[in-house]
Amino acid sequence: MELSDHTRNILGLHLPTDPRWVNLAGISLEAILTDHAYCEQKAALTCISLIQRYSQKAELVKQLAPIVTEEWGHFRLVLNELHKRGLSLGTQRKDIYVNKLLEFQQKGGDEEGRFLDQLLTMALIEARSCERFKRLSEGLNDEYMRNFYRRFMESEAGHYTLFIELSEFYIDKEKVRKRWQQWLEYEASIMQEIEVRGDRIH
Ligand SMILES: [Fe+2]
Ligand SMILES: [Fe+2]
Repeated sequence: MELSDHTRNILGLHLPTDPRWVNLAGISLEAILTDHAYCEQKAALTCISLIQRYSQKAELVKQLAPIVTEEWGHFRLVLNELHKRGLSLGTQRKDIYVNKLLEFQQKGGDEEGRFLDQLLTMALIEARSCERFKRLSEGLNDEYMRNFYRRFMESEAGHYTLFIELSEFYIDKEKVRKRWQQWLEYEASIMQEIEVRGDRIH
């Protein structure tokens, strides 16, 4: 799937480079694959919990059910790459980025606002994954791995779009747009904070 202009604009204009992935040469393939494997697991798990929490929303259930399978398939592909190389799945790192995103989610108040924040959190994580995979697909030395990550990039771009579309299916577009802008600004501030602290994926 080619990225739409809309997706391109979002990725190009609002998301500064994730500092965790700037210095690719300094990160081992095992660390990259382990971190990636857990991201895929978490994506599958989050889709399952969204289906459980919003089981009355038929369109959401219909759209997210196949994404669970797809994300779990991604996990298996990454696991396979580790095993092929005689590497093993390391332990899960503390995900400061995701934890910071969760802090920004609306906790109380109206149900619609809380629902929207769940979807936009996922949209942001997918957009950021897409950007990360783009970087890997361009920056890794190994041609096989560059192609490997290009396919992931395309898939996650589709997921990012899906979460935005689902938001607009259930909630007024203007409300979605306004809240999305707030999320993008908040996310940019997290990125700066991570950079200052010097956090890396390992
Ligand atoms: Fe995925
Ligand atoms: Fe995804």
